[in-house]
Amino acid sequence: MAAPDLERAGGTGVTARTRATNALRRSFDRLPPGARADVRRAADVARGLTQVKRNQAALALRVAALERASRTVDPEPVDPRFPAGVLSKTCTQDQVESPWFAAWCEALGEPPQAHRKLWEWAYLVRVLDELDQLRPGRRGLGFGVGRESMVAFIAGRGCDVVATDLAPDAAEALLWTNADQHASGILEDLARPELCDPDAFAERVSWRPVDMRSVPADLRGFDFCWSACAFEHLGTIDAGLRFVEDSVATLRPGGIAVHTTELNLDSDTETIESGPTVLFRRRDLQDLAARLEAAGHEVATLHLVQGSGALDTYVDVPPYVPEPHIRLLYRNVVTTSVALVIRAGGA
Ligand SMILES: C[S@@+](CC[C@H](N)C(=O)[O-])C[C@H]1O[C@@H](n2cnc3c(N)ncnc32)[C@H](O)[C@@H]1O
Repeated sequence: MAAPDLERAGGTGVTARTRATNALRRSFDRLPPGARADVRRAADVARGLTQVKRNQAALALRVAALERASRTVDPEPVDPRFPAGVLSKTCTQDQVESPWFAAWCEALGEPPQAHRKLWEWAYLVRVLDELDQLRPGRRGLGFGVGRESMVAFIAGRGCDVVATDLAPDAAEALLWTNADQHASGILEDLARPELCDPDAFAERVSWRPVDMRSVPADLRGFDFCWSACAFEHLGTIDAGLRFVEDSVATLRPGGIAVHTTELNLDSDTETIESGPTVLFRRRDLQDLAARLEAAGHEVATLHLVQGSGALDTYVDVPPYVPEPHIRLLYRNVVTTSVALVIRAGGA
């Protein structure tokens, strides 16, 4: 779950970075002794702040552990069209403390942590399982899969999978290749022998380049499709929302789409509307759900809550900690993960 290395993504590369570091060192050595001492003090302060962050994270986890004995889980609505617990919802402390979360992390071979990205993967496979998609004969389509272990996991359950991502030579792919989050078009990058037997994997999984901004018209008739942490990276709010609608067109009637993205928890008006990462507002998702419902699809009830646990108030800031990382500050906005669950109409 490495964060993208933006400097490298900018195309400077490791060699350029090493050159820059060496140049910086030479400049530092040329400074008068007093100035060098000032720089060292500033570096100590930066290291201290990182430790303050670690201390706070440790305290937040301790508070959450103490709270567990007395706190009751926040109630959730039920959408009668979907199994209990299947909603379009935000990641909260309650979610990552639920028994289902630990069970699905284990199934994916990931140690459970209070981390929103892990929640996205665990919730996604849980929803597909609850909606009876993870069984032999089902056909799944993954978008922007990067190096997700979900591809192998889903194939291991007997499904045929078309895994897609940006073409390796697409300019935007560099960001994700450097962050170790792009499969580079090599199917083996997605194989996980512990999750899917290699022969079965080779038989059931294929990979093809797909730009989520223009989903090819021949991708049709799938039982389910999914994306994790991808449609906020399509350049604009509109492009992301359009993708969700296009993804539903790849499904057979009654097919299931599950997509995760990031929700702006601060504002329903101001947000990051364009750039490498956009942040959806509640109203963006509400409007999208209304459009999908009007077109005859079913969107599991939107349950876009902040959560009331200690970890729901802890906002992680860069450099991010492994946990708790349920809320994070991205630029100047507090955000978290959100999942959308859609059943294609026409069944
Ligand atoms: C944050 S990574 C997530 C990767 C993976 N889904 C995961 O959860 O680990 C974002 C992914 O979106 C993909 N992506 C970004 N823009 C895309 C586009 N226009 N079309 C298809 N995939 C795209 C990237 O290549 C990358 O794999």
